[in-house]
Amino acid sequence: MKVLIIGSGGREHAIAWKVAQNPKVEKIYCAPGNGGIGQTAECVPIGAMEFDKLAAFAKAEKIDLTIVGMDDPLVGGVVDVFEKEGLRVFGPRKNAAILEGSKAFSKDLMKKYNIPTAAYENFDDPEDAIAYLKEKAEFPIVLKADGLALGKGVLICNTLEEAEEGVKTIMLDKKFGSAGNTLVIEEFMTGREVSVLSFVDGKTIKTMTSAQDHKRAKDGDQGLNTGGMGTFSPSPFYTKEIDEFCQKNIYQPTVDAMAAEGREFKGIIFFGPMLAEKGPKVLEYNARFGDPEAQVVIPRMKNDMVEVCEACIDGTLDQIQLEFEDNAAVCVVLASEGYPVSYEKGFPIEGLENFEGKEGYYVFHAGTALKDGRIVTNGGRVLGVTAKGATLKEARKNAYAATEWIRFENKYMRHDIGKAIDEA
Ligand code: AMP
Ligand code: GLY
Repeated sequence: MKVLIIGSGGREHAIAWKVAQNPKVEKIYCAPGNGGIGQTAECVPIGAMEFDKLAAFAKAEKIDLTIVGMDDPLVGGVVDVFEKEGLRVFGPRKNAAILEGSKAFSKDLMKKYNIPTAAYENFDDPEDAIAYLKEKAEFPIVLKADGLALGKGVLICNTLEEAEEGVKTIMLDKKFGSAGNTLVIEEFMTGREVSVLSFVDGKTIKTMTSAQDHKRAKDGDQGLNTGGMGTFSPSPFYTKEIDEFCQKNIYQPTVDAMAAEGREFKGIIFFGPMLAEKGPKVLEYNARFGDPEAQVVIPRMKNDMVEVCEACIDGTLDQIQLEFEDNAAVCVVLASEGYPVSYEKGFPIEGLENFEGKEGYYVFHAGTALKDGRIVTNGGRVLGVTAKGATLKEARKNAYAATEWIRFENKYMRHDIGKAIDEA
């Protein structure tokens, strides 16, 4: 069997590592991939948005299964292009990936189907948005660019002045491009944020073990929002009672709502429930694995990735018993100093060999490249160091020990990934 993975981050490396465990898989390609994924998969120099070239490659190489890791190609309709060519592909079609691609769509869906979420209004006109802020808003308030903005299109505004400035930034200055054509103004909520990823086959949903991300760049949740600086799994705050509530009121209802709208969802739904005082409410949906959530969830998954993906495509997920190890994992992202703003790259990375043959320790490559036979830094988030342990505390200790095995100039990480577990 030949498998193609679309994407280039630590998430795709974790997917490739897992796919490689299947004895039927003889070859894995990753487009475009990165320096380190090259050890597990053959990198193909085709961009994730070059749909026709990707489909032509899949046809020519007789790829049996393509797994789309990234959000942009999903929202852009790569799955539709592959299906039209008769290729087997795992991920939602364009009309379903809109669940992540448009926050205005997802908010309207939740309202229509009574799925708990923060109160909101959508706006196409900046003047209407400002009038609403002046007349009705309570502060702090949250402004969200409708479309994909690399996780950066969310502004939390403490005053009317800040919010007016925010409307200008998103809708007039178009800081996030066309993602800001529509604006969502949303009630500010407080609570812990959990990441719950799930496999969906259009009708059936099977959720994976929970995780928590750390989005801010600096210790103590200071600094700018990033793609994620580290994760742990499971979340001790995501209790059985909360899970039962979410299964009944959020997860299955979302899948059913998409089907009822004629937007059958097949692939991964990543729910971002906030554990608010009055119960869980959906902060956001994504249509793919989280990054770096995948780096803690996938190593704990007992099932075969290829089998589960195929069950989603074939609509037979009800026959799969999804199972996770009864342990814990922590991932600490090693980044380039200065991320997410500006940073130098091209520094050689040393110590990667320390992970070889070490059961329960993983180094997933995100921003790395192969240069003159050496792995060098090539992005803001460089590596995800994951370790497992019997408990979260042990996993955390192991992960931080493993971060010391790696050396590169400009190495930066948070030192408090998983610290919240001390409060659990
Ligand atoms: P999103 O892209 O929707 O996940 O938002 C990015 C981050 O902004 C979230 O992870 C939250 O930390 C924060 N956020 C989003 N919506 C809200 C809200 N309604 N209340 C408070 N914080 C929010
Ligand atoms: N780590 C958050 C995300 O993948 O969106």
